[in-house]
Parts: sequence; C-alpha cells; structure tokens
Amino acid sequence: MQRYLLRRVLGAILGALFVCITTLLAFTPTLDGQAGFSAHDVYLDKCSACHAQDGSGKTVKGRKDKVKDIRQTIKKMSEDQMIQIVEKGKGAYMNSFSKQYSPEQIKALVEYYRSLAGQ
Ligand code: HEC
Repeated sequence: MQRYLLRRVLGAILGALFVCITTLLAFTPTLDGQAGFSAHDVYLDKCSACHAQDGSGKTVKGRKDKVKDIRQTIKKMSEDQMIQIVEKGKGAYMNSFSKQYSPEQIKALVEYYRSLAGQ
C-alpha cells in the first residue's frame, strides 16, 4: 500500500516536472528577444499608422502629426540619427521605443523603414 502511494506521488511530481519543462520550451523562442521578430511585421503593426505602409506618412494620423516622407528624410538623416530618434523619441508624437525593442531590433526597424525610400 505504501509503495502504491509512493508511486502515485512520484508520478505526480514527474508529471508536474514534464509540464514545467514543456511550457519553458514553448516560451524560450520569445525569451531571447530576436527569434520571431520581423521588422516588416512590427513596422506595419507599430509604425505604419503614422508613417504609412509605404513610408510616405500619408495616413490620417501622419498628416495630422506632420510626419515626413522617408524619401525626403533619407537625404537629410543618417541611419544612426534615425536610430537615435526611435530610441529616444522626438517631439510630441514620435515616442521612444527603447523599452519595447532591443538595439538590434531598432536598427532592423530603421533599416526596414529606410528601405521603403527605394521602392
Ligand atoms: C504616433 C505617430 C508615430 C508612430 C506610431 C511612430 N512615429 Fe516615427 N515619427 C513620428 C513623427 C511625428 C516624427 C517626426 C518627429 C519630429 O521631427 O518632430 C517621427 C520621426 C521618426 C523618425 C525620424 C525621421 C523623421 O521622419 O523625422 C524615424 C526614423 C521614425 N519616426 C521611425 C519610427 C518607427 C521605426 C516607428 C515604429 C516603431 C515609429 N516611427 C512610430 C510619428 C510616429
């Protein structure tokens, strides 16, 4: 009888351990911060409301907040200057994104945004 109980308890512990490990494995890709990050998707999700899908800034919000066209700003601003603005924010409407995204992710976002000037 005692053996039976011991087996049940051990079984339960092993079961719980299994659940812990599988949940941990399921979440590891998001823990390293890079996997699953797509500059294209994040731009569409977080930036295009103001900067527009094509980078022109011609959205309702973009027009109101006077967002400039990337085809113009790319001639005046370096990639580093743009990274600074995305990290620190600028003016009343452009927020700082350094809490949400790592430096590598911000660089990727700015690269994607700048690539829109060539289309
Ligand atoms: C709520 C509107 C809004 C959102 C959302 C937004 N921006 Fe901006 N962004 C602006 C405005 C307005 C400026 C111009 C700020 C100024 O010069 O005073 C700007 C400026 C910039 C600049 C500097 C070049 C320029 O046009 O002056 C970059 C680069 C930039 N944004 C990238 C991004 C990225 C990347 C995202 C998404 C992660 C983003 N922005 C989200 C409104 C927005």
